[in-house]
Amino acid sequence: MSVPERFAPQEEENESGGHSLEPMHFSDLPEVLVIERACFSDPWPEFAFVQGLSCADCYSRVTRKNGQVSGYLIGYVSSLEIHIANVAVSPAFRRQGVARRLMLDVLEGTNLRCTSAVLDVRESNHPAIRLYLSLGFRPIGRRPRYYRHPVEDAIVMTTKCRTPRKNARERD
Ligand SMILES: CC(C)(COP(=O)(O)OP(=O)(O)OC[C@H]1O[C@@H](n2cnc3c(N)ncnc32)[C@H](O)[C@@H]1OP(=O)(O)O)[C@@H](O)C(=O)NCCC(=O)NCCS
Repeated sequence: MSVPERFAPQEEENESGGHSLEPMHFSDLPEVLVIERACFSDPWPEFAFVQGLSCADCYSRVTRKNGQVSGYLIGYVSSLEIHIANVAVSPAFRRQGVARRLMLDVLEGTNLRCTSAVLDVRESNHPAIRLYLSLGFRPIGRRPRYYRHPVEDAIVMTTKCRTPRKNARERD
């Protein structure tokens, strides 16, 4: 099954910095799961990705370099807001702008008609927090003991999407 057609990427989005950007497919899951387990102490189980790819409101992307999945992002769209639920980059491809590319696709891509983005991040995850701050995200709250392995608070961060306003209106 492929991702919902309404979130299909536009042609010009497909290649950037040697990493292509594409919708995530079920066939990507073996590679995605290897990255997920390398990145998180409490990784998503496979069924969480399957559920996402089966959901019409899920926005998913993988980046690829020479055919190999280098990173991915999963978000859930609710009205004009996207909740970025998961973003990760393979340790082999870090500091190459992959996460920034995935995030800018959400914040500036013209095919996703959201006006704001929100996410949760571990308070000790300084690389991710630095990435989000550099993209204009600002903290708006805290979820005490939100994470496990280890137990830790989440910082809730949000920013406006830079998608042209007319797209938001067209969606209604
Ligand atoms: C956080 C993560 C997604 C960043 O991916 P990445 O592709 O290496 O990030 P980018 O190359 O796009 O970096 C963009 C910016 O983020 C910040 N950043 C990324 N990694 C950083 C690090 N290790 N230390 C400090 N800042 C970092 C920097 O500001 C960087 O810009 P710069 O390279 O010009 O200094 C990656 O480290 C990762 O997958 N971590 C494990 C999973 C995770 O924590 N996901 C986020 C959950 S909320």
